[in-house]
Amino acid sequence: MEEKLKWFKEARFGMFIHWGVYSLIGRGEWVKYQEKMPDEEYAEYAAKFKAQNYHPEGWVKLAKEAGMKYMVLTSKHHDGYCLFETKTTDFNSVKVGPRRDLVAEYVKACRKHGMKIGFYYSLPDWSKPAFFKGPDKAPNEWREFIRYIHAQVKELCTQYGRIDILWYDYIVLREKKAAYSAEDWQSEKLNAMVRKYQPEILINDRSGLPEDFDTPEQRITPSRPGRMWEACMTMNKHWGYFPRDNMWKSPRELIHQLTGCVSGGGNFLLNVGPKPDGTIPGEAVRRLRRIGEWLKINGEAVYGADRGPFSSGTAGVVTAKGKKIYLIVHWWPGRELCLPEVKTKIKSAYILSTGQEVIPEPRGERLILKELPAKAPDYLSTVIVLSQEY
Ligand code: GLC
Repeated sequence: MEEKLKWFKEARFGMFIHWGVYSLIGRGEWVKYQEKMPDEEYAEYAAKFKAQNYHPEGWVKLAKEAGMKYMVLTSKHHDGYCLFETKTTDFNSVKVGPRRDLVAEYVKACRKHGMKIGFYYSLPDWSKPAFFKGPDKAPNEWREFIRYIHAQVKELCTQYGRIDILWYDYIVLREKKAAYSAEDWQSEKLNAMVRKYQPEILINDRSGLPEDFDTPEQRITPSRPGRMWEACMTMNKHWGYFPRDNMWKSPRELIHQLTGCVSGGGNFLLNVGPKPDGTIPGEAVRRLRRIGEWLKINGEAVYGADRGPFSSGTAGVVTAKGKKIYLIVHWWPGRELCLPEVKTKIKSAYILSTGQEVIPEPRGERLILKELPAKAPDYLSTVIVLSQEY
């Protein structure tokens, strides 16, 4: 494994933040495009976006409480509104709306609390007609557009000190069927520039080049072993603030997803969509705190852990670290639990949260865990530590 990926693999859990002008409208981050809102109308919202209760230190503290080790903020989403100071456009938070460099404040808060810093950055940009015309129809305009994109990325890489993650995004336009390619974006040149200014940075796969990690979205699909990946996931059904969306995932489901990622060797980037004033909705806060409580007790099975050596059968997922194997039971079976195929010699086992011993009994290739409590000790997921030593 590459040295620069080490912290990222160990971290396992991060906070994604979708926040911008669209948060004020409250119908998700695609609202401008989906509702065909004219630029002038969107600009009126931008002027009203004030971020009056934006205290990124509060975000960082919440992420820490949740057991998250890094954060990724939308420095610019598809709408083209920059949350950072830029010379490339006036459509930014220093000139329009809050009149503050929101990214600078976020970086400062992260750094103060030792939180790793990620920037989401959308290559697609609805504020520029060239983006819709494309390189074939309007080659000159496109060249100008690419200069503007590269200049923004350069600003992000040079204005804020060390940045840990650059999280590009792309989209597939309805009328085009395919996303623009790495050649269209001149991604090779772009990423070489990024690495010149930020030699340690991790870059995701959404500039059309594989770079450091894959980004399955709203699903947990491990990449081949050896290839790093991170699943990004919403907590309800939307990324940007959408108060009418009350389809929240339960803390239990979120823990199943987090541990599912770890058992496939990947990370979990869980999203919050703050309100326009900068505060995080209570539903999200409560869920994050609950996950944090669980991780305080069971974090050993998550941080620095990797794919497990055998299947959990019907129980849940398996992770491993050193000589320890962690069976994370999503579906508690009662007094006995059957692992279908265990070739490793398991000498002892115990429940992580209670310390209670469990008797491992080989039965052919199967391993039966006996004398379990009838009810799950932890409703959210119970971790059983299997040890190859006594
Ligand atoms: C989807 C959404 C986009 C969001 C991204 C995060 O592509 O369309 O708005 O930022 O997911 O991965």
